[in-house]
Amino acid sequence: MQYGHFDDQHREYVITRPDTPLPWINYLGCESYFGLISNTAGGYSFYRDARLRRLTRYRYNNAPFDFGGRYLYIRDNDTDKFWSPSWQPTRTKLDKYECRHGMGYTTISSSCGKIEAQTTYFVPLGETLEIWKFSVTNRRNKPAKLSLFSSIEFCLWDAQDDATNFQRNFSTGQVEIVDGVIYHKTEYRERRNHFAYFACSEKLAGFDTQRDTFLGAYRSWDNPAAVEAGKSFNSVAHGWAPHGSHHVKVSLKPGETKEIIFVLGYHENPADKKFDPPDSQTINKQTVKPVIAKYLGGQNVTAAFDALRQNWDTLLGVYQVQSPDVHADRMVNIWNAYQCMATFNMSRSASFYESGIGRGLGFRDSNQDLLGFVQMVPARARERILDIAATQLKSGGAFHQYQPLTKRGNNDIGSGFNDDPHWLILGVAAYLKETGDWGILAEPVQFENEPGSEQPLYEHLRRSFNYTLERIGPHGLPLIGRADWNDCLNLNCFSDTPGQSFQTTTNKDGKVAESVFIAGLFVLAGKELAAIAKKFGQSKEAERCLAETAKMEKVIYQHGWDGEWFIRAYDDFSKPIGSKVCKEGKIFIESQGMCVMAGIGLKDGKAKLALDSVNKHLATKHGIVLQQPAFTKYYISMGEISSYPPGYKENAGIFCHNNPWIIISEAMVGNGDRAFDYYTRINPSAREKIGDVHRCEPYVFAQMIAGKDAPTHGEAKNSWLTGTAAWTYYTITQWILGIRTDYDGLRVDPVIPAKWKGFTATRRFRGNTYIIEVQNPKGKQRGVKKLLVNGKELAGNVLPVRPPQSQPIQVVAVLEG
Ligand code: GLC
Ligand code: GLC
Repeated sequence: MQYGHFDDQHREYVITRPDTPLPWINYLGCESYFGLISNTAGGYSFYRDARLRRLTRYRYNNAPFDFGGRYLYIRDNDTDKFWSPSWQPTRTKLDKYECRHGMGYTTISSSCGKIEAQTTYFVPLGETLEIWKFSVTNRRNKPAKLSLFSSIEFCLWDAQDDATNFQRNFSTGQVEIVDGVIYHKTEYRERRNHFAYFACSEKLAGFDTQRDTFLGAYRSWDNPAAVEAGKSFNSVAHGWAPHGSHHVKVSLKPGETKEIIFVLGYHENPADKKFDPPDSQTINKQTVKPVIAKYLGGQNVTAAFDALRQNWDTLLGVYQVQSPDVHADRMVNIWNAYQCMATFNMSRSASFYESGIGRGLGFRDSNQDLLGFVQMVPARARERILDIAATQLKSGGAFHQYQPLTKRGNNDIGSGFNDDPHWLILGVAAYLKETGDWGILAEPVQFENEPGSEQPLYEHLRRSFNYTLERIGPHGLPLIGRADWNDCLNLNCFSDTPGQSFQTTTNKDGKVAESVFIAGLFVLAGKELAAIAKKFGQSKEAERCLAETAKMEKVIYQHGWDGEWFIRAYDDFSKPIGSKVCKEGKIFIESQGMCVMAGIGLKDGKAKLALDSVNKHLATKHGIVLQQPAFTKYYISMGEISSYPPGYKENAGIFCHNNPWIIISEAMVGNGDRAFDYYTRINPSAREKIGDVHRCEPYVFAQMIAGKDAPTHGEAKNSWLTGTAAWTYYTITQWILGIRTDYDGLRVDPVIPAKWKGFTATRRFRGNTYIIEVQNPKGKQRGVKKLLVNGKELAGNVLPVRPPQSQPIQVVAVLEG
């Protein structure tokens, strides 16, 4: 069952019915003003921080699921009938419906009673506002007299407080209505210097700014009193719930079209210029008025939309591929790259599964996300790295998250995740490989955001590495702390109190439980740090890193190998987790992926053995589950992982984030067929045809697909904001297609299915464009031994960095096995 189709040429996903199994969403904005928008115009907007600067209100976990949005109503004044052109909130049957989610915009078109409507929503580059470009056409053979009503509900800025603190909030709401523009200015009179506005290009027949007047008592958005009556009440909000609604009358001759523009925006005034006149309480509108005026005329809107499209051409143009597989192509060329930009912008904060209230930017998450977007926006990646590093603790450890608005770390969702510091090394390594910007290592960066504590970024990486060396357990493996990558493997928590957070509660001193996963990560990151140190003129340090990683490898062989796979961890009683001696949770995915990626077992066959064990015990047709057998009961010594019912999340769900580790590992051992097969199992485009099983959007990866122990095996959850985005992108582009950035150049080392005859990729890299044609005449899975560069033979498979040339560089690579 499908609910739409891809339009690759326009880089759009076309949803052809409004009642998708779940809201299928898109993001607007890519700089400082953002919005979420569903296929029925649901969602909300915010400035920079979804929690602290929320512009419009949203009702979570509602029924219907998706409620609150950028709504419009069309009313036929001859019949008094009204409907929503985006289906929600009236859910009137539409004769035609189509939603096109594109790169940074969404267009919803529909037809009802021969009145056609189309709305395109987007955020112009460089602005802190969103545009709704609406057009309506009369397809009847007689004139149509219509009323158009807009509707948004303002949030009183702090989304958490807005949803809880009613004793205050019901009395603070304030608005101004001037020249048809609705200004939302709650708390502007005191400490805020920002306000929101909602403007319309037409002369208004009326407006409403008090929600409950617009809706009427005991009514909802499916039948607002104003729309039913065909007449706004010109209400002015004092307290309660400030709302924005314009009423416009539209008369259309047969065949006539009318375009109407709405602008919803955010604006700041300097603290000393808030009011006009200065001694009044009226918003000073001098600087906002020209911005509003600019976009209420159609021309600038079209130009802004074209600029947005061009920006995406540039961003996506960094890596384009034509391969024999349409699903891989559209993920690489369009959607996976796009999803990586969304995770860059949002981290894990605002989606239809993340409320925008709960989490800031994760230390571990943000570093991993770099893998997926560094090639598109290297300058912003640099800034992100420096921001993250500045929150690092002096001990080398990390705050688990920081807030984007303040850029300060906090322990709100726990601390002491002993894997965290290593991701900074891997993030910086990815940045250096992409850009060659070695200067970043010398940048002075604070610790714990403390002025005066500045040290070169390089020192931060050193402390990250040493952090583990200072926290070694009884077997010589790294202590796990609160948890490692798996937030839910809480070996020191021992929680028996309902409602206690597994992330912030610790009842053991944490000196026993160890992680084989962190051991693998330490080896991987340590090898990168050695390479970086060498380049940075610290060859002694490089040697020390390699000596320590070699030592750790030995420990892994001795205490981390179970015979057929890598053990996962040791618990607080020093008993193995993820071993054949366990009753449940005998084998875990993470340590297999991480140890093989670190190069452990590649020489002696252990890597292959571990990967075959994964294939045998963990692989399902919907992806690879996290562990087996699933935990059938709660184990106090393991924490949250065993709190989930079998088959969900970390308890044997298909946690898509770590599937790429296995795929990379398969690529490293040269198994192109299996690598690509695993990749395809979780590729949302390849799963489009099973839309009623998968249920989430077919154009973006989900965090989790229900594992085989769940009754809903194959059902996806938590789409969009997941480390899966970056890891799958990195895996397909750099390991399967194999065009891999390295410190000194671009490596061409594809590991592909034997049946592929080849593929062609275009890659922009350090000032040059490479057109790389990979040929596979003998049906191999790997093995580029030499390259033809502009017709000349080059030994090996690395394209060295060269000065920028105006012409693309033509490269031919042949797989020889
Ligand atoms: C979530 C977290 C990530 C963690 C993973 C596994 O995706 O954002 O940090 O590694 O879950 O628990
Ligand atoms: C919960 C989730 C996990 C997430 C974590 C973030 O444990 O299950 O996936 O990473 O919260 O704190």
